[in-house]
Amino acid sequence: MAFAVQMVKGIFELVREDLALVEREIAAQNGAAIEPVSEISSYLCEGGGKRLRPALLLLAAGASGYRGESAIRLGAVVEMIHSATLIHDDVIDGADTRRGRPSANARWGNHMSVLAGDWLYMQSFEMALRERNFPILDILIDLTQNMVEGELLQLTRLGRIDLNEVEATELAYRKTACLFSGCSRLGAVLGKQPKAVEDALAEYGRNAGLAFQLVDDLLDFTASPEKLGKPVLSDLKEGKVTLPLIFALEAVALGSADGNGDGAGHAHLRSNGDGRRLVAKVLEERDFQSVRPEQITKLVKETGALERAQKLARDYVCRAKASLSELPATEYRRALLTVPDFILDREN
Ligand code: IPE
Ligand code: IPE
Ligand code: MG
Ligand code: MG
Repeated sequence: MAFAVQMVKGIFELVREDLALVEREIAAQNGAAIEPVSEISSYLCEGGGKRLRPALLLLAAGASGYRGESAIRLGAVVEMIHSATLIHDDVIDGADTRRGRPSANARWGNHMSVLAGDWLYMQSFEMALRERNFPILDILIDLTQNMVEGELLQLTRLGRIDLNEVEATELAYRKTACLFSGCSRLGAVLGKQPKAVEDALAEYGRNAGLAFQLVDDLLDFTASPEKLGKPVLSDLKEGKVTLPLIFALEAVALGSADGNGDGAGHAHLRSNGDGRRLVAKVLEERDFQSVRPEQITKLVKETGALERAQKLARDYVCRAKASLSELPATEYRRALLTVPDFILDREN
């Protein structure tokens, strides 16, 4: 709860009370589960989290002229779907920290965690079913399938140094942006908005989500683990070649890391192939053994890859905001316009 409270004091002030009701709904659902599931889901919930997805849904509903119980319930639904994917993701990634604490798999093991995630998925669909609204179910089923497919596709691409920007963006869309997009689309559906408004809000969520995942990829290179609540420089060790690294590899291939040598510091970047060899080595060893983490950080910095990724994140943020241009000028729209900036500046 601590993180959520911290968040809502800022950009989510407008939906603070509704977010508290979402929190109560999630706690009630967790309480209704059988013992190990209840313990695992409450543990994850109490570990913090930004509650970005329910907040988006509530704001999009407000911007679409709807406030009420359905938005609260669906806010809980999307946060529970998010929780389920986090639990499963940490099992898949063998991650031992989440939200600054031992992950569910680290505490309860893989078997219990997988089943707790399954239960959360099913419980969220049971709750959504209470709306008796097929378009809502369509959206939720579509995005959940997309997320599962995203994790599966990512597994098939693990360790691939030749992953390109288009493939990485597709993964980011499936893993992260489709849930953001679904949240803002659900807000429009609750407000019974015409298709054009629904699509505009969905496009807003998609771009905000792509920015969010890109910032997540950047934070893996730039953040401190204390602030982030999960280890840093772990993507590459997990076999994931993310966009900042793809940009670095492109720059190295073009030779832009060449010839700016200021002596020993650039020794490992002197020839075109060196940056690529460093990355390949970490992927091969799935660890920082022969390569030091600082060498990879240096690579993404010196090739301008971090800047390029930051610029791309800013582009997504601009596109997200532009999608809201046709919406009526309400305080909800104003709040939605500030969310992408928060996404860019976030430190956890
Ligand atoms: C983490 O999402 C997973 C990604 C999509 C990168 P968040 O950073 O929103 O996680 P919490 O809910 O705030 O912990
Ligand atoms: C994104 O996966 C999170 C989900 C969509 C479940 P990652 O593996 O990139 O996210 P983190 O870094 O574990 O939060
Ligand atoms: Mg992970
Ligand atoms: Mg993962």
